[in-house]
Amino acid sequence: MNPLDEYKSKLITIAEAVGKVKSHQTLSVAMAASEPPGLLGELGNQRDRLEDVKVWVCLPLGAYSFVLDPGMDGHFFIENWFYGNADRKVHGEGRESYIPNNLHQAATKKLYATKNKVNVFFGTATPPDSRGYMSLSLGLVMEKQLIEAADLVILEINENLPWTLGDTQIHISEVDYVVENNVAITELQVTPPTEAEEKIGRFIADLIEDGSTLQLGIGGIPNAITPFLLDRKDLGIHTEMFTDGMVDLYNAGVITNRKKTLWKGKMVGAFALGTKKLYDFVNNNLGVEFQQGCVTNDPYVIGKNYRMISINTALQIDVFGQVCSQSIGFKHFSGTGGQLDTHRGAQLSNQGRGIIALRSTAKNGEISTIMPILSEGAEVTIPSHDIDTVVTEFGIADLKGLCVRDRALALINIAHPKFRDQLKSEVMRLGIVPKI
Ligand code: COA
Repeated sequence: MNPLDEYKSKLITIAEAVGKVKSHQTLSVAMAASEPPGLLGELGNQRDRLEDVKVWVCLPLGAYSFVLDPGMDGHFFIENWFYGNADRKVHGEGRESYIPNNLHQAATKKLYATKNKVNVFFGTATPPDSRGYMSLSLGLVMEKQLIEAADLVILEINENLPWTLGDTQIHISEVDYVVENNVAITELQVTPPTEAEEKIGRFIADLIEDGSTLQLGIGGIPNAITPFLLDRKDLGIHTEMFTDGMVDLYNAGVITNRKKTLWKGKMVGAFALGTKKLYDFVNNNLGVEFQQGCVTNDPYVIGKNYRMISINTALQIDVFGQVCSQSIGFKHFSGTGGQLDTHRGAQLSNQGRGIIALRSTAKNGEISTIMPILSEGAEVTIPSHDIDTVVTEFGIADLKGLCVRDRALALINIAHPKFRDQLKSEVMRLGIVPKI
């Protein structure tokens, strides 16, 4: 059959597509800006005919009733690799649970647990070209692995999605049904850096030499530092997430990717999340390569880059060097995502460095993010034996190879001055460092 006729023969309505999901099945969903808003919006409307459907999601962005409405209890149970806003709100209702993971192995391990069983996959793609190929566009973290495992693949086709290059292509013959929904793509706005973030940006810029390859993580700080890199030369990008700040650095001629070891001349990443500026930039851009998360985030792949610098942020760190980036006490907040993958990968690289950058205080300066010991319930994102470099607005602590006493001293030195004495006395009182 002509590929475009095949496309037409597979085109159904959104309600019909969601109607393919049955009770007691598992539904996996594309992540972040590549999530299918039409299909996910309809899911909750069909609640009454569905019982005990497991939905696997990762960083969902929309406000969908199947997540938010308490009446969905018993109809849907959400398993989530990385929490977004809505998930944090409903976590306490017991209809959703976090899947602990390192991103590069997230799909592989989940599929191991279910003996490769996924009933349905919901994702998004661009309209097909004349040969029947579509682009999976903004998300390639786990999507291809989940598509391969799913019994039924349904894609929401949106002509506003950028046509991205790399490993993103999928042919209409690999898809069971398509629906069309030409909505605007969800954007993540960039907030201007605060004074503390600017100081952090300057410290980090000092750690980045010309010719380095960068990974920038999710959150305010990694994006805030990009303006301070404008005088660097020949930077490269090997990241999990493409961000707006990278576009600015590329347009300023700072990112050339020429000195990279892998994919020379190209930025490499697994998903894009930002504003329309980023989505336009990645559209049909031969300099931007999307690869699956199991490739981009594999520490051994990351580590092959020369001067690989990872920059991620965190919620808390203790004087041992244990980092928590995913929970506030017992309250689950986000996920490990690719933080440990990239932090470890950077340290495997010749001249590489794993940076954790965080503001020294939270809650309007009321609490220190540097603690004697992580808060009760805090989930460890980076273990103490993996920590490398920590930056706050008060300086840089290079923790690699230091004993706990020296780590404590280095971290207290970059804590907010108003908390330093208290930190010292607590560390001694708890016997972590009996004498400072
Ligand atoms: N104690 C209590 N609350 C804290 C806190 C602490 N130590 N640190 C931060 N918070 C609060 C903030 O006040 C803020 O609350 P608000 O939303 O009510 O203002 C909230 O937690 C979020 O903090 P913020 O620093 O603004 O978060 P962010 O959007 O910059 O994201 C992380 C930071 C750490 C949550 C995010 O980077 C993350 O999830 N990282 C893990 C995954 C990762 O790094 N992946 C890398 C590859 S992409």
